[in-house]
Amino acid sequence: MQTRQNWFDGWRLFAVLALTLLGLSIWIASMRGFEVDGVRMVIRFTARTSLVLFCLAFAAAALARLWPNAFTRWLRRNRRYLGVSFAASHGIHAVAIMAFAVMDPPAYAAATSLASYIFGSIGYAFIIAMTATSFDRTAAALGARAWRRLHLIAGYYLLLQFMVSFGKRIPDMPLYALFLIPLVAVFALRMIAMAPKPTPRTIEAR
Ligand code: HEM
Repeated sequence: MQTRQNWFDGWRLFAVLALTLLGLSIWIASMRGFEVDGVRMVIRFTARTSLVLFCLAFAAAALARLWPNAFTRWLRRNRRYLGVSFAASHGIHAVAIMAFAVMDPPAYAAATSLASYIFGSIGYAFIIAMTATSFDRTAAALGARAWRRLHLIAGYYLLLQFMVSFGKRIPDMPLYALFLIPLVAVFALRMIAMAPKPTPRTIEAR
């Protein structure tokens, strides 16, 4: 049923989220006079907004299956737009990373490694592939099976990458362990939602 309560749906949801993220990122950078500290704050801010958006999109179907209600149905209906908003958030992450590299090359070199380039680039390749196939026409061109496989592999890869990126900071900052909670929860929810429900026939057979 399409009613006015669906105002916050679809591409409008994406536009609101993307513009809000962009505005907040500019505001955060401006608090440090657009110096490198502000840019690094934007990198961390967008890593965290990306985490939230990714988890919502990747858990949407499982949540709607386990607890069908108005909110989880809204989530499932909008998972594509939450996913594209995640890509926008990570687009800002990429722009801030480039600014960091240009503004302070020694600090940038200290904060990155060959591994972060390799795994980060694979992550971005998946994000671009998922975003490019998040339109009706491109999704249809890819075909349902290939689409599902791509989005499943890319989703689990990104889940792992978030775990590693936040996890490797735990020895220095133990509170970073909190970022792993939503990631583990999303994984568990997907596993539980996938488990086959016992059918009446199985129960009868006992
Ligand atoms: C080539 C690609 C990438 C590069 C060069 C890169 C670079 C960086 C850098 C330099 C930081 C630290 C910023 C600072 O300490 O001030 C950072 C933080 C982070 N990045 Fe990226 N990144 C890349 C891709 C990704 C991807 C694909 C993900 C997730 C799927 C990701 C997730 C994170 C996370 C979780 C943090 C920690 C944020 C925090 O401290 O709260 N990055 N990245």
